[in-house]
Order: sequence, then C-alpha cells, then structure tokens
Amino acid sequence: MNNLLNIGVLVSGSGTNLQSIIDACSRGELPGRVACVISNKADAYALERAKKAGIPALHLDHRAYSGREAYDEALVAALREFGVELVVMAGFMRIITQVLLDAFPMAVMNIHPALLPSFPGLHAARQALEYGAKYAGCTVHFVDSGTDTGPIIVQAAVPILEGDTEETLSARIQKEEHRIYPEAVRLFAQGRLSVEGRVVHIG
Ligand code: GRF
Repeated sequence: MNNLLNIGVLVSGSGTNLQSIIDACSRGELPGRVACVISNKADAYALERAKKAGIPALHLDHRAYSGREAYDEALVAALREFGVELVVMAGFMRIITQVLLDAFPMAVMNIHPALLPSFPGLHAARQALEYGAKYAGCTVHFVDSGTDTGPIIVQAAVPILEGDTEETLSARIQKEEHRIYPEAVRLFAQGRLSVEGRVVHIG
C-alpha cells in the first residue's frame, strides 16, 4: 500500500466513471487508491458504489452553505481530512471556485463528454448531434477557472452514426470515458504529466 496516490472523487450521479477508477485501482492498474467520495446529492448512486467498495462516502449538501466559496471550503476541509492529493470530478454537477483550485493546484481533473474545445457546457452529445458533427468523444482535462477550458490530458473520439440518438451516442462516448479517465489518473499518479501553458506533456 506504499506510495499510492490518494484520490478524492466528487460526484453527483450514477458514478460509472467513479466505478471505472475504483476498478482500475483494485486491479492494480494505477498506483492510487480512492480515499473518499463526496457527493452534493444525497441520493447519488455513486455513494452506494463507494460504500460497496469500502470507501468513505460523504454527502455534502451545497444548499447548506452560503455560497460557492463556502461550499468549496467545506470540500477542501473534507478532502484534506482524507489526505487527498488529486481531486477527480466525475459527473459532479457544480461549478467550483478558486478556493478549491488554489488548494489543489493542477491537481483537479474533470471529464467532459465532447472533444473540447467543441461543445462545452451541458448536453454535449446532443450539441454534437444537432450541429451535425461526424465525430464526438470525451476529454479529460485539468480544471481551471473557466467552464471546460482547462489543459487537455487525454481525449478519445467516437464516430457519430446515421440514426444516432442522444442516448446511443452518449453510451458510445461513456464507454470511452471509462477507458480514458483511469488512464489519465494513472498518468498523474505515475508523475508523468507536466503542464506548460495550455499544453499537457506526457513523459
Ligand atoms: C459523464 O458523462 C461525464 O462526462 C459527465 O457526467 C457524466 C457522469 O456520469 N461529466 P457518471 O456519474 O460517471 O456515470
């Protein structure tokens, strides 16, 4: 158990990406362990996944705080309590502030279901379909102060097929998410990522 990176995962929903990271850790595919899972939603299935894996699962209700900064201070306190070194946002439906970013410089990741910088924001798969793009995909990136704007770590592309719906396309994208998110976390845990301006170098 030595030299394992302590990962804190922030969630709001079903937690399939969380599961892919838990599974990669337990298969020994990355030198890390999920130290805690925090949800802003009490009924997030991701919390059940954490409990089943024996991982501390916390519900921190954003509505109990006076604002985004105050909420992020509570997040930072909880993450620090569990010795977290990398914060992984996995379907966490909150905009985070500088409070969290300053506490974990270049150590907050997010996954977005589009080939950024195309289609940031909500309903990315629907945006790609409606735009008529021929490829969609997903992006793991470091989080900065913008929305889906931070330095890109790993991407995967999938084709958009004739007859695709938001559901079929999202399912194809999610399959790739579950492959590239553990990969990005592995690269971080192995100390192989360095950031120069917008560019993430993989060594
Ligand atoms: C994923 O599609 C991710 O790209 C987006 O939110 C979704 C989370 O799904 N940010 P899950 O909770 O990991 O199943």
